[in-house]
Amino acid sequence: MKVDVLLGLQWGDEGKGKVVDVLTPKYDVVARFQGGPNAGHTLEFDGKKYVLRSIPSGVFQHGQINIIGNGVVLDPVLFREEAESLCQSGIDLKKVLKISKKVHLIMPTHRLLDAANELLKGDAKIGTTGKGIGPTYTDKIGRNGIRVGDILLDFDAKYEIAKEKHLKMLEALTGSRPNINDAEAKWFDAIQYLKEYQLIDSEHYINKLINDGKSVLCEGAQGSLLDVDFGSYPFVTSSNTICAGACTGLGVAPSKIGEVYGIFKAYCTRVGSGPFPTELFDETGKKIRQIGHEYGAVTGRERRCGWIDLVALRYTIMLNGVTQLIMMKSDVLDTFPVIKACTAYSTPDGVISDFPYNIDNNISPIYTELPGWNTDLSKATSPEDFPKEFNDYIHFLEKELSVPITIVSVGPDRTQTIIRK
Ligand code: GDP
Ligand code: IMO
Ligand code: MG
Repeated sequence: MKVDVLLGLQWGDEGKGKVVDVLTPKYDVVARFQGGPNAGHTLEFDGKKYVLRSIPSGVFQHGQINIIGNGVVLDPVLFREEAESLCQSGIDLKKVLKISKKVHLIMPTHRLLDAANELLKGDAKIGTTGKGIGPTYTDKIGRNGIRVGDILLDFDAKYEIAKEKHLKMLEALTGSRPNINDAEAKWFDAIQYLKEYQLIDSEHYINKLINDGKSVLCEGAQGSLLDVDFGSYPFVTSSNTICAGACTGLGVAPSKIGEVYGIFKAYCTRVGSGPFPTELFDETGKKIRQIGHEYGAVTGRERRCGWIDLVALRYTIMLNGVTQLIMMKSDVLDTFPVIKACTAYSTPDGVISDFPYNIDNNISPIYTELPGWNTDLSKATSPEDFPKEFNDYIHFLEKELSVPITIVSVGPDRTQTIIRK
């Protein structure tokens, strides 16, 4: 049995949560492999909307096991908020959720360091979600982190050493030593709450399930253009968001990876700072934002909007070995008379179609224009309902990207999902 991976091919918010929920009935296990509460994965069904941050999007279907893998960073306070709200809506989370003991914990001081780092960067700030992601992964790689497994041992001394170091750093960076008493008390309460969950050696567990013939869906967070190695560095997140992250973030061997679902919007968005070649600063960009409700699920920040970028998509398809494409938010483009798709970049050194080292200034997108479909796609229930112009757009993308588009999403609800192949 193979492990399938679903991940974002753009700058995040592609609609991963919705599709993981839709695909979950096909799987026995859903597992998150990286990121933390910087993610905001939205699901809608039965007229209700849910936003998940650290908990996998497989918890709303029945019977599946959900795992928070070792590659994730967890804020116990935000986890508690999220978990309690799910429990209130009737989910027996303590039964269906398992958390790796190797998950690193986000401390209150990590969030303060995130804010201080951003402040010091001034105009060059990353525009992080402020959840302490960068400092927590920094401590992980620097071998100073605290892991979920530590809370089952006597971890006070470890915590104090890490905290003291952070406070000294904060004092040096900001000129004052913050008072974290309240945040710390809440954090330790939340640690007690976390102990009520199944804290496991998830790499052994998941491999046993695979050997027993169970099927696993790995849920990515963020998007490939935010990957710390291959994204628009330094305007990226601090984890490997690409498919390889599923191997390190769960302890699954590369030979076990099966289907790789690459998910993208019919256009493109980005939240936070950093280059975005096809960004639209005009009325068209505003119209996409309005119709697509392009505001961050976690921070409420405006998402920057632009046309689809096939240079970037070809790059992320290559990095991930994508076997199937999923196109989201097609309905948002329903009323646009012309749809544009960037097929190459014009640079001072000529036209290029390979994603370059630097996508800052000096490059401008070269577009192919396609006629709009001027049809309400949100009511479509099968591919037969698609108008010709929309089918032409799909076929154009498949030809440019050399991977089949097997699922098309035409609205936020679970039911507004059309399987093509
Ligand atoms: P994720 O982080 O990749 O899970 O995506 P987000 O939840 O942050 O953002 C996707 C947003 O688009 C959410 O508000 C979804 O409810 C919404 N959405 C998902 N698919 C569709 C779609 O096909 N059409 C429309 N109009 N909205 C969608
Ligand atoms: P989901 O899983 C969109 C962006 C932030 C910022 C950069 C670094 O919902 O797709 P961080 O807090 O990670 O240090 O911020 O990454 N970012 C996201 N953008 N969707 C996300 O997650 C994101 N998670 C982080 O806006 O630019
Ligand atoms: Mg999101």
